[in-house]
Order: sequence, then C-alpha cells, then structure tokens
Amino acid sequence: MFKIKGKTVLVTGANRGIGLAFVNALLEKGVNKIYAVGRDLTSLKDVVAINPNVIELIVCDVTNSEHIQNLTKKINHLDILINNAGIANACFNTADNAVEIAKKEMDTHYFGPMQITQACLPMLKGSKQAAIVNIASVAALSNFPSLGPYSATKAALMSFTQGLRIELAGDNIKAVCVYPGPTDTRLAPGDIPKAKPQSIAQNTLIALESGQLDIYPDDFSKSMFKQFEEGADTLAQAYAQMHG
Ligand SMILES: NC(=O)c1ccc[n+]([C@@H]2O[C@H](COP(=O)([O-])OP(=O)(O)OC[C@H]3O[C@@H](n4cnc5c(N)ncnc54)[C@H](OP(=O)(O)O)[C@@H]3O)[C@@H](O)[C@H]2O)c1
Repeated sequence: MFKIKGKTVLVTGANRGIGLAFVNALLEKGVNKIYAVGRDLTSLKDVVAINPNVIELIVCDVTNSEHIQNLTKKINHLDILINNAGIANACFNTADNAVEIAKKEMDTHYFGPMQITQACLPMLKGSKQAAIVNIASVAALSNFPSLGPYSATKAALMSFTQGLRIELAGDNIKAVCVYPGPTDTRLAPGDIPKAKPQSIAQNTLIALESGQLDIYPDDFSKSMFKQFEEGADTLAQAYAQMHG
C-alpha cells in the first residue's frame, strides 16, 4: 500500500485547474507539506491562504532551467512529485505553426518534467516511499485530430514515465502516468462533457494509494483505454470519428 498521509508533495501548475484540485485533495488526505509550484505569484498566494501551515509556494516556470535549479535549493525533503503543469494549443500536425507549437509543448510536457524529476531525484531517493506522478492525457494513447503536437508531447511524457519505472525500480520510487480525458479547466474549451478537476485529483490519489501505475481517472479515459486495448487503430478511428 502507498500511503499519502504525512507525505511531502510538490505540485507543478498548482495555482489553478487540476493542479489546484490536487492541492485540495492532498490536504484532504492529510499530507504534511505541499510545495505549490507555479509562475503566477498572485494566484499562488491565494493557494497558500488555503492552509499556510501546510502549503508553501515556489515560483518556477517549468521550462526555465535556472528556476528548476533554484527550486530544489528551497526543498530538503520530498516524497511525491506531481508533474502537472501543461498547455494545449489546438493545432493540426500539418499546420504551418505546428513545429513552433510542438517545441513549446515539448518544453512544458517533456523536457520540463524531465529536468524537474532529475533535480528532485536525490530527495526522492531519500524518501522511504516515493512517487513521481506525471499528468499526461488520454491523447497520449493515440494522436487526437486538432491536438496533434499536444498528443505527441503527452506520448513523450508517457514514454518518459515508462522509462523511469524501469530505471527506478530498485529505488522504491513509483513512476505513475495519469491519462485524464476532457476536464473542466481553462485548458479545455468547448461545449463537450467534461470531468471535474476535483474528481480527477481525488481518483488519481485513490488509484496511487492502491498501487496503480497507469491511471485512467474518469469515465471517458477508461472507455478510451478499453478501445486502445482492442487495438491502437481502434482508438485512432474513434478519435477520428469524434472529430468528425
Ligand atoms: N483539462 C483537460 O481537459 C486535460 C485533459 C488531460 C490532461 N490534462 C493535463 O492536466 C494538466 C493540468 O491542466 P489543467 O487542465 O489544469 O489546465 P489549466 O487550468 O490551464 O492549468 C495549467 C497549469 O499549468 C501551468 N503552467 C503551464 N505552463 C507552465 C510553465 N511553463 N511553468 C509553470 N507552470 C505552467 C499553468 O500556470 P499559469 O496559470 O501560470 O498559466 C496552470 O497552473 C496539464 O498537464 C494538462 O495537459 C488536462
């Protein structure tokens, strides 16, 4: 059993959306300390105000190497790292600006989490029971039309997590990948059914405690994973049909 109570946790993109929902869900679980990491000092201060005894803010852009090195200087113990910060641009793989968007999203979803993970690794190795939780997307399983670069960068994060799982097997560090479907945050516009960020965070923590390494935290992601199990092409066709 993986126990969240009493742990020290770092959440990136903690100032809003799913990151903020993680902060609240972690408080409900009785964690000892939360490092709320983000770019926006004003909204991070509001997060600290939820429980100043437990939450400490760290300003850090996950695409900035200097910020990441400074971040680890402010922490001396860590049990759980949640790489949550993310961006999404509607973009087809063949669009003129696809390379530019893919580079930005790769910095945020792959190189950022990779650098933060490497910087936090000595502290995670010092924990009795540690986890790295990477928030990918159900779009990591198959390239979603109109979110081409986004899907590819989330697939890179999934692959990174799979690699960590093998490399860290001897260090008592779980490497967990989460695949949310559409969730009601600023990142997912449009009039489609969406899960609540609170349920994504709560279901993820329940699954983490039960030992799951690949987490489908909502009904949509569960049903897309079923199609993926039938065959990668089955899911690709389902995504194509959804797009119309
Ligand atoms: N919403 C969905 O439908 C959905 C579905 C699947 C997966 N996800 C994933 O869930 C994660 C959270 O997204 P969300 O839905 O909560 O979106 P959101 O409400 O837009 O929040 C995104 C968060 O990431 C932060 N962020 C973005 N780039 C950053 C950077 N370079 N450095 C530091 N922080 C940065 C944002 O900070 P600022 O406030 O400073 O911009 C914000 O706190 C993302 O990785 C996203 O890809 C979301």
